[in-house]
Order: sequence, then C-alpha cells, then structure tokens
Amino acid sequence: MSVMYIRGGTPLEGELAVHGAKNSVLPILAACLLARGPVVLRNCPRLTDVTAALSILRRLGCRVEQAGNTITVDPAGASGCSISEEQMRSMRSSIIFLGPLLARMGEAHLTYPGGCELGPRPIDLHLAAIRAMGCEVSEDRGIHCQGRPRGGEVQLALPSVGATENAMLCAIGAQGPTTIVNAAREPEIGDLQSFLNSLGARVRGAGSSTITVEGGGKLSGGEYTVMGDRIVAATLLSAAVSAGGRVRLSGVDWRHLATVLSVFHQAGCRVESGPDHVELIRDRDAPLKGVPTIRTAPYPGFPTDAQAPVMAALAASQGCTLFVETMFDSRYRHVPELIRMGADITTEGRVALVRGVEELHGARVEASDLRGGGALAAAALGAEGTTVLSGLHHIDRGYEGLEEMLQRLGANVERREA
Ligand code: EPZ
Repeated sequence: MSVMYIRGGTPLEGELAVHGAKNSVLPILAACLLARGPVVLRNCPRLTDVTAALSILRRLGCRVEQAGNTITVDPAGASGCSISEEQMRSMRSSIIFLGPLLARMGEAHLTYPGGCELGPRPIDLHLAAIRAMGCEVSEDRGIHCQGRPRGGEVQLALPSVGATENAMLCAIGAQGPTTIVNAAREPEIGDLQSFLNSLGARVRGAGSSTITVEGGGKLSGGEYTVMGDRIVAATLLSAAVSAGGRVRLSGVDWRHLATVLSVFHQAGCRVESGPDHVELIRDRDAPLKGVPTIRTAPYPGFPTDAQAPVMAALAASQGCTLFVETMFDSRYRHVPELIRMGADITTEGRVALVRGVEELHGARVEASDLRGGGALAAAALGAEGTTVLSGLHHIDRGYEGLEEMLQRLGANVERREA
C-alpha cells in the first residue's frame, strides 16, 4: 500500500493542462456499445474507474485497446448482455451500461451497483426511465430488463446525472423519438450528446432540462476527444488557494467552474479566466476570508464534487463558512481528518460550519472517498509541516497521477510504499 508524503508551506507556481473528465469518459465508454464500428477516444484519463469500465466492455465482447490517453473500442463483437456482480461492484457508475445494453441487445442482466462512501446510491430513477420507454424491469435477485425500448416521454423526478445519461443511451435504440424532461444539465451531459452526434445520432437539448433523442440510431464508428475534468481543476485550484501562489490551468471551460471561482474570488483570491483556461493567484500574506453559505446543487449550482476540496481550502481563513450538502447523505468524511490537521469544523447532518483557523498542521490522515482524498492533499499543501496521506486507492479512481500534477506545480509531494 502506498502513501503520499506532502510537505506544506511551498506556494504553487506553474501551468497545467487538466486531464480528461472521469464523469464524461465513463458514459462515453458505455455509449461505444451503440456504435457499429471502431471508436477512438482521446484525452481519456488513466484511472481505476476507467480500467473497470474497459473490463466490462471486454466482458461484453468488445475489443479494447489503451495506449496512453487514447482508447480504441471495437464493439463489433459485442454479444453479451450480463454484467457480473463483481464487475458491478468494481465501479459505482457501472449502472450506466444498462441503457446501451437495452438499446443494442434488447436485454440486460445486472446487479445493484452497491452503495459507496457517499451513502446509498439508489437507481430507482434509472429503472423508472427504462420502464417509461416500455422495457420490462424485474428486480428479483438482481436487475433483469427485457424488450426493445420504444420512444416516448421520460419524466425524471430528480435531475439525476446518471439517470439522464442512461435514458439518453437507451433512447438511441428506441423506435421513435424520446423526450427526457427534468434532465440533468451537467457539462458532461453535453459532452455525451456531442459524442453521440459525432457518430450520427440526433440528440438535442443537453445543458437544458429537456433533451430529445431521435431513435433507431445505427451509429457509425468515429473519433472523439473527451472534455477536461472540471472537478480535477477545482481540486488543483483549491490546492493553490490553500498553499498560495499562481496556477494556470488549461483544457477546461471556466464557465463550468463559475460557482467555484466565485467562492475563491469572495475569499480574496484573484481569478482570471478565458475560453480555455483559468488562472488563480493567492497571496499567502493576505489571509483568506470565509464566505457566506455554500450550498451544493445540481448544475449550474455549486458542484457537490467540489465541496470537500473547497472546504479544505477555506479551513485556514478568517471568519466562518457554512456548507450545506444537499446531494448526498455522507459527504463529510473528510471533516474528521481535517480536524486532525487543526481545522475547526462542526457538522450537523448535511450542514458543516467551518470556523477559519490561522493555519493547519501536518498529520497522518486517511482518504475515505475520492474527492475527500483530493481535499486532504489540498489542505496538506497549505499546512505547516508534513502530512502523510493514505487511502490513495480512492484518489486513483478520479485523479490521474495527483502527485505528479502537484509536483509539476512545485509542490513538495512524493508517493512511497508505506
Ligand atoms: C454523478 O453521480 C457523478 N458521477 C458524481 O460524481 C456526482 O457527485 C453526481 O453525479 C452529482 O453531480 C458520475 O458521473 C460517474 P445523481 P450520479 O444520479 O449520476 C439521487 C465523483 O466524485 N438519485 O445525479 O450517481 C442520488 O442519491 C462522483 O466524481 C436517486 O435518488 O449522481 C443523489 O442524491 C461522486 N435515485 C442525487 O439523486 C436515482 O436513481 C444526485 O445523484 C439516482 C440518483
């Protein structure tokens, strides 16, 4: 098992191109099942969740090759329609294969993807969407779906990212058009729409609450470049806020981070941005200010995935910041670890009150989920002394070489065997 040794106190300086988005490449990989020819994907991040998705595609009969950040999927030989429990549990978002399996095979046999560190992860909205498209769904000892989807209207009770993506992918194989109402508006939905249309689909409306999909799609093969990861960008910017310095990130649309950049601006940082880059400057001699309530919400609200890194950045500040986590039940598992570093944080259910302290100090801390791990690394860079961070398998799910990225920005970080 490896751990990260992080020595705080060095401002971050430099420029970095942000790697491809985990939450975009995962649904796009599942969507490759809908193509009738090889698909070449560029800017794919090398993550354990991506490795898990590739093993599912192979299990379903696809030929898959990965060379650096380029993945080629040839779905011509795809014939399977079952995903093993082990594979479903290997990655929370394995449920995203449900829609494309039904679209292509007219049948799907899965198990529940299993909860995760954030609390229960229900899939009732996914199954309701599939049922609304006329497929039969049985939940007797697993999830068993039969029937070619018909077009129609899918009304989502919540703007669920995954359920929106599953509905889009299932609708590609439906006879007739489908309208998805109360769709999630996250930028990754827009990337999925662009990918599908590049293969010949006709999907409209991503980014709004209503998405329409022309069915009966025989999608061609093609090539596509995955968008940059806005949450990795938010994490790196949080590290710069915590450590101080000047960081410029390219490969990400600043508009996808507007709520996070606004918080850092209110806290006293300088933020400059353009169509393809974001730059943040934080002078360590000027203390950060706490900001009014940060309430997570579906896009374009404040992203729940940025809550932990931003909290870590604001733990050492003047004043208080109140966080309200509206999306998940258990998304404060980084709080006890920040307290071990000297933070003053009180949580009550989905509310966390951060009373800024002058400075954090190094400690032995453990990541217990993906974004909490990114948060602890950010906090350690601004802390006095050395932090030893374990639980790196969580971090490797969503950050491609976090320590290398931070080293390139001048951080004193190294990964060693424990
Ligand atoms: C996606 O998860 C992301 N994962 C998550 O990122 C992100 O936190 C989340 O969207 C919200 O933005 C991927 O894209 C792979 P949801 P997803 O369905 O699709 C409830 C990360 O760190 N819900 O939008 O699972 C659910 O419990 C990960 O990169 C139901 O009740 O999220 C939650 O409260 C963590 N029933 C809310 O909706 C359902 O059937 C939003 O969940 C589905 C969801």
